[in-house]
Amino acid sequence: MSEDDRNEQAETGALAPDTLTVWAGERDSLVQGATQVPIVYSAAYGYPDVETWLDVALGRTPGHIYSRNTNPTVAAFEEKVRVLEGAESATSFATGMAAISDTLFALLAPGERVVSVKDTYGGTNQMFVDFLPRVGVEVELCDTTEHERVEAAIASGCKLVYLETPTNPTLKVMDIARLATAAHAAGALVVADNTFATPINQNPLALGADLVLHSATKFLGGHADALGGVLCGARDLVAKVYHYREITGAALDPMAAYLLIRSMKTLALRIERQNENALRIARWLEAQPAVTKVNYPGLESHPQHDIARRQMRGYGGVLSFELDGGLDAVKALLPHLRLVRRAANLGAVETVAGPPATTSHVECTPEERAAMGIPEGLIRYSVGIEDAADLIADLTQALTAL
Ligand SMILES: Cc1ncc(COP(=O)(O)O)c(C=O)c1O
Repeated sequence: MSEDDRNEQAETGALAPDTLTVWAGERDSLVQGATQVPIVYSAAYGYPDVETWLDVALGRTPGHIYSRNTNPTVAAFEEKVRVLEGAESATSFATGMAAISDTLFALLAPGERVVSVKDTYGGTNQMFVDFLPRVGVEVELCDTTEHERVEAAIASGCKLVYLETPTNPTLKVMDIARLATAAHAAGALVVADNTFATPINQNPLALGADLVLHSATKFLGGHADALGGVLCGARDLVAKVYHYREITGAALDPMAAYLLIRSMKTLALRIERQNENALRIARWLEAQPAVTKVNYPGLESHPQHDIARRQMRGYGGVLSFELDGGLDAVKALLPHLRLVRRAANLGAVETVAGPPATTSHVECTPEERAAMGIPEGLIRYSVGIEDAADLIADLTQALTAL
């Protein structure tokens, strides 16, 4: 097969995800025989005459005008994610929160209503409890796993349904197909945050969502060294959000796009290992007397395990567990762990751990976290690609030292 044929297949999505992570989206960006996408640091793009320039500016010929709008390196990253999510179109952002806030602000207007759940990522929750109500958007947040309650809220009328599954940090799972059916019956759009699952484990668009977004900072980047966000879906919807981002300006930096492209080549390999490690560690943690609860969708004991089994191909690299003794026990355990970064991140090749109080829900008070069902004694443990036996030995010595 020629390189062009291989690239053609990658563009059309006829190849398996682990092949697509390597090949998709790169062909149009390669220059002068280079085998890797270049980092194009150019603020603007020049044209010899006004006619040619105008054709590009009006979208009649492909090309770039100004890097706040589009950029060759950034476009290659968007194309790779687009193919992996099986979407018509994709656009990117400086961070995951820029993807989320731009999507919500672009698609919602004062007087309209959005239905979501209580367990979204802390920053997203702030959008729902503060920023959207400030501009007159009505928000109803339902209990995350009460599907009937979410369906009733949708049926009473809304413009947009916002899902995140699995959730951060309690790993609750929502039935995307079921809620998309309810949303579409009410004439609403469905947006799903797929950060925890990644396109390797779950494709929300194939399950009925209209738009899927990611904090690329997490598993897509996988090395904790680049910030980014990405949104995929139908061309007209993505175009609307792209226009909002191009005007408000939270564009992805070309260097970050390059790091994300480079990292995504190993996405399938990393996720395969992280799925395996997390399941093994979750099972092991469940048997430890000091651990009162383990949240991981791959466990048979997980309340939405059946939904997860139906809609996910793997259960992801993040789990959380609760210690007897609350935040004091968490404070005592964390310093003993040798093979973790104690940091507010997840999805990296190295294991990362921390309590919601300093990570996902740092913006909330203990009372707000309690109201959201997030115990102070919880530790979010994002499993890396290390040897699972080493991680279990590390957890063993830390729990024994308590
Ligand atoms: C599920 C989820 N969505 C979105 C975000 C926001 O992403 P970023 O930090 O890239 O803005 C995060 C960050 O932790 C997250 O966990």
